[in-house]
Amino acid sequence: GSAAAKAGRTRNIVEKLEESGKNCIIFYGSQTGTAEDYASRLAKEGKSRFGLETMVADLEDYDYDNLDAVPSDKIVMFVLATYGEGEPTDNAVEFYEFITSENPDFSSGETEKPLKNLHYVAFGLGNNTYEHYNAMVRNVDKALQRLGASRIGEAGEGDDGAGTMEEDFLAWKEPMWEAVAKKMGLQEREAIYEPIFGIVERDDLTRDSPEVYLGEPNKMHLDGEPKGPFNAHNPYTAPIQKSYELFNSKDRNCLHMEIDISGSNLTYQTGDHIAIWPTNAGQEVDRFLNIFDLADKRHTVISVKPLEPTAKVPFPTPTTYDAIVRYHMEICAPVSRQFVATLAAFAPDDESRAELTKLGNDKDYFHSKVTTQYLNIARLLEIVSKGKKWSNVPFSALIEGITKLQPRYYSISSSSLEHPKLVSITAVVESQALPGREDPFKGVATNYLLALKEKQNGDASPSPYGLTYEITGPRNKYDGIHVPVHIRHSNFKLPSDPTRPIIMIGPGTGVAPFRGFIRERKKLAENGQTVGKSILFFGCRRSTEDFMYQKEWEEVKQVLGDKFELVTAFSREGSKKVYVQHRLKERSKEINALLDQKAFFYVCGDAANMAREVNATLAQILADERGISKSKAEEIVKQMRASNQYQEDVW
Ligand code: FAD
Ligand code: 2AM
Repeated sequence: GSAAAKAGRTRNIVEKLEESGKNCIIFYGSQTGTAEDYASRLAKEGKSRFGLETMVADLEDYDYDNLDAVPSDKIVMFVLATYGEGEPTDNAVEFYEFITSENPDFSSGETEKPLKNLHYVAFGLGNNTYEHYNAMVRNVDKALQRLGASRIGEAGEGDDGAGTMEEDFLAWKEPMWEAVAKKMGLQEREAIYEPIFGIVERDDLTRDSPEVYLGEPNKMHLDGEPKGPFNAHNPYTAPIQKSYELFNSKDRNCLHMEIDISGSNLTYQTGDHIAIWPTNAGQEVDRFLNIFDLADKRHTVISVKPLEPTAKVPFPTPTTYDAIVRYHMEICAPVSRQFVATLAAFAPDDESRAELTKLGNDKDYFHSKVTTQYLNIARLLEIVSKGKKWSNVPFSALIEGITKLQPRYYSISSSSLEHPKLVSITAVVESQALPGREDPFKGVATNYLLALKEKQNGDASPSPYGLTYEITGPRNKYDGIHVPVHIRHSNFKLPSDPTRPIIMIGPGTGVAPFRGFIRERKKLAENGQTVGKSILFFGCRRSTEDFMYQKEWEEVKQVLGDKFELVTAFSREGSKKVYVQHRLKERSKEINALLDQKAFFYVCGDAANMAREVNATLAQILADERGISKSKAEEIVKQMRASNQYQEDVW
């Protein structure tokens, strides 16, 4: 039931290439939009620099059984993100299963090197702090080779863990283009900007016309009464039932928020994730519209039309500049160096042009000026041109160059047994003071949620840099406080046998899913079930500051007695840092004994350091307690992971 099939479009790649006159198709497997972005950038660059007839395609929208019929004078590119534990992204699951199967069933029936005519290019997006680094691109590349396909250039790998994704991509693509040009006999030409989207200002419509989208994500929302089914393509605008602060701190906030999904078909299980669709802060929307000289016509109704048959407009139209920027563009995200270079051509003066060109060409200069200051595109351009407006930038270039606003995922911190239609989240509000910048950097979704909470409770903004949001604006024509959401099911689950012991490691917001787990076991016990030992290792800075859910744990203890134990690590109370893994080590004997009783072991929270260190600590515990070698112990931990006895929910 893909979007393509519903729209009556072909799922046949060869047919599509033929009917659209393309010779290069760029498939993406994307979860958070970055891979999709890179695919679009490759498409644009292939066209403007080499005159390739490119098109971008969602892996979900095509069948792959005739990849073997793609003629050898065409190129297929794959831009593939790895998700979670080495998994394909949601839109790439079917492709991945097909291509890595023992004998993929190709249309020709050929089994000996069926893809011998296929020329492909591959780039992967991964995170080296995860065990299965770039597994997706590696496995797909291997499978394609095995099936006889020929790769052009190297299979690239970008590393989000090291924070070098963008630079890895830039470094990979130059030699790749050279190899493609050589293979296809293409001449590089002077790159000329050709817009992909046409913008038509609509004098016949006003903001009040019923067919104008003012932030509604799609047709099902336009009537003011959103219609299901609700999913990743159609969020449910859910009422927030209750929200409160979990920290006791002047400068840090952590939100507990309960979201009511009872008016929808959405369901969840304890351990799943909920996606929140954020709104950009008013101050940042104004800054953006202002620097691109769109402020005066922010509410003008426009239609956006693809100028090429294979391009897709990433939001519904007719709409307004204001609605696009506020609800559909990731305007606060890190700036891409390549995009900065593209904008140089539209600079308002020679000085600004020279500066942007320098930023575009010099990686270290860019890093020191832009990345370390967390500048977004509008802030950067304001500084570069000293406030002069960038009136010459075509709006199409902004649609092409700026990622679409992405939903953010949160580990659900409620239990579906206790509250099947009430989902809670536990989110730390992102706010970072930066040397050399007056106002702190503020995260998009968490500050939006903070504003929802303040509005609902009638709080005053706690910060002099408080942001303002359109909360009950035209996007959601309801009374009260709502947030658009969808649910993503996960494999992070309690053992089906409630008597099995569980060990949970969840410092900071890593505690979120464990609140759900523990409340579930409390509920089971109240229903008369016997539950196994549940031990939670929780870490935070200070017992008086960020010890969230402290009271709740005492209530759980009342019900579960010695079946529940909380072990705390307060990192900033003593002279030395104490972390959850230190506490884990102190309990070596007990941990080993619980694992002997087939305890499940869970880790949630920080992927960069904590999860890795906990993994290493567990291996050390097994080695010490069982008198086995370190490598044998590591092998056991690997097996625990493979059999789902060891589960991670990390970000
Ligand atoms: P964003 O605006 O997205 O910023 C996030 C980070 O990106 C910044 O801290 C910064 O490092 C970088 N960044 C953004 N803009 C710039 C810029 N212009 N320049 C340089 N760097 C920049 N979070 C929780 O609090 N609780 C949870 O239970 C939870 N569960 C999660 C589960 C999963 C599966 C995943 C993937 C994530 C989870 N997260 C959770 C994280 C959450 O999804 C968000 O990433 C987090 O809340 C920050 O979102 P934000 O929009 O406020 O920040
Ligand atoms: P710190 O900030 O004092 O270093 C929740 O964020 C808790 O996790 C805090 O107490 C934080 O301590 C701690 N923490 C930071 N780095 C960690 C790591 N590598 N392993 C485990 N806990 C860590």
